[in-house]
Amino acid sequence: MKKSAGRKIEIAVFISGTGSNLKNLIKFSKKNKRFKIKLVISNKKNAKGLIFANRNNINTKVYNFKKRSKDEKKMLNILLKEKIQIICLAGFMKILSKNFIKKFNGKVINIHPSLLPNYKGLNTHRRVLDNNEKYSGCTVHFVNSKLDSGKIILQKKVKILKNDTPKKLQKRILKQEHKIYPKALQMIVN
Ligand code: GRF
Repeated sequence: MKKSAGRKIEIAVFISGTGSNLKNLIKFSKKNKRFKIKLVISNKKNAKGLIFANRNNINTKVYNFKKRSKDEKKMLNILLKEKIQIICLAGFMKILSKNFIKKFNGKVINIHPSLLPNYKGLNTHRRVLDNNEKYSGCTVHFVNSKLDSGKIILQKKVKILKNDTPKKLQKRILKQEHKIYPKALQMIVN
């Protein structure tokens, strides 16, 4: 994806919860003037990340996805109106339709807390520990119509420690997520 000279790359971040990745992307966009987080979309009205977005004067929208196709239509309208070029999924817990993804083909990316293609889906840390893996990690990837299956952009390995718990592992992996998500963004626009 090439950026036109002088114009910022405008990004929408989709969240469902805490929004630590959102927070980190906002921080990054303040330092790196090429990117602007222009819109935050959540499927939950009480997602913590929305508070941070509001504090930073970023436009926020909530769509509960009870009627996905209706909500996706509204989302597409606002994404086009705001001229959003990249969508970053950051802990967004809803599945986007094939149709929606097709409309933003190659411009939707996601962060997942495992070394994909291993451990797609939920409860990754628990499953990794139950299988006595030596390593886990995180992956930024393009989103396609299959869950956690699009082309990998960047990964970071994290060593499993002796007395790891899902919570401890999640915390260490999240730290690495915050490093690789901004890097992956830079990679796809270069
Ligand atoms: C992260 O672990 C991310 O990899 C996964 O959901 C979590 C979101 O965390 N998809 P946060 O809301 O960004 O803190």
